[in-house]
Amino acid sequence: MTTVLVTGGCGFIGSAFLRMAVPQHPDWRFVNLDLLTYAGNPANVAAVAGAPNYVFVRADLCDEAAVRDVFETHAPEIVVHFAAESHVDRSIVGPRRFLETNVTGTFNLLEACRAAWRDPAGKVFHHISTDEVFGALGKEGRFDERTPYRPNSPYSASKAASDHIVRAYHHTYGLPVKITNCSNNYGPYQFPEKLIPLMILNALEDKPLPVYGRGENVRDWLYVDDHCRAILRVLRDGKVGETYLIGGRCEKTNLEVVGAICDAVAEIRGVEPAAVRRWITFVQDRPGHDLRYAIDPSRITTELGWTPEETFETGLRRTVRWYVENRAWVEQVRTGEYRRWIETNYGGRGA
Ligand code: NAD
Ligand code: DAU
Repeated sequence: MTTVLVTGGCGFIGSAFLRMAVPQHPDWRFVNLDLLTYAGNPANVAAVAGAPNYVFVRADLCDEAAVRDVFETHAPEIVVHFAAESHVDRSIVGPRRFLETNVTGTFNLLEACRAAWRDPAGKVFHHISTDEVFGALGKEGRFDERTPYRPNSPYSASKAASDHIVRAYHHTYGLPVKITNCSNNYGPYQFPEKLIPLMILNALEDKPLPVYGRGENVRDWLYVDDHCRAILRVLRDGKVGETYLIGGRCEKTNLEVVGAICDAVAEIRGVEPAAVRRWITFVQDRPGHDLRYAIDPSRITTELGWTPEETFETGLRRTVRWYVENRAWVEQVRTGEYRRWIETNYGGRGA
């Protein structure tokens, strides 16, 4: 059995990865290390929690001794590092935790690998990162593996720092690392502070749909399962020491995204699209709001044969349907019941 340490496996993308990989890889033993912050919800991994090849460990990556303990107890050979503070708006209000988790947390994990992996054979440290490290594009051009770093928000700067440390551990110590930088993900189980789930839930309930600025900012959207399939592909076939950019060639302005959500929700509710669209409200812009992100995924496509399976239309439809059909999940997140469950079962730690 190969032991795979997944950090942040109770979050949005980490949980999608576990729901996909745990049943697909009975030959791998998955250890999910998660602090269960506000963004970590055990309900997200309920589908795999009883699997024989899955265990959960609550730990804080910022706690060096706790991270070392996990390595001593479980001896992972592969690390897939999702855990992070991930929301740009929160990083603007309170950047400290972003530096702690995203930079120091990643550093602690790298140090644990360096101490444990005397022989790099068969080992991989896969760092999950973002296209935001490259900064903002104008109307033209796309990010690729040669694009210089120019992060603009405290969140993206902390992710850029983590990318650099990961790369430096490969260059200096020969740690077998792989880095992927992905564009905006959407899909089931995304915490409803991010654009797409927030707009779906508000549109279902005739609440204002707050679009920052004029809604002209562009993001490059990818369905979360397509991201997870790309990660599995890079884990299996990607070259050690290399970076792969992942994106769906799916650029949309925020206004286009919100409009599409309104139309999908209107169809489900059996009302005219205009009845939902009238809730679109332009609000104050995000400070330092990056204008446009777009990925050129040619490398992962040509070298590893990955392409997305979902279009924006099919992915969005699936996502809207999921939020409609999973009101219990939505309610326990909104009421904070999931926090009470965590406190009862794991104690009061976490943020
Ligand atoms: P998320 O916020 O939904 O989940 C983060 C998870 O990390 C949570 O389960 C949380 O409890 C855990 N965590 C946070 N701090 C921790 C700590 N100190 N110790 C242990 N666990 C901790 O994030 P997400 O959207 O699933 O993103 C996962 C990764 O993918 C992040 O590294 C993010 O930068 C990257 N990424 C996200 C997107 C996106 O669109 N969401 C796109 C590209 C890359
Ligand atoms: O590009 C990858 C990144 O995508 C990830 O690294 C981040 O973890 C992830 O959160 C996401 O960052 P964004 O800032 O792009 O995502 P968010 O959903 O917060 O916002 C998407 C766009 O929508 C952005 O231009 C801001 C805008 N927006 C967002 C919210 C929450 C609004 O107009 N209104 C809103 O209420």
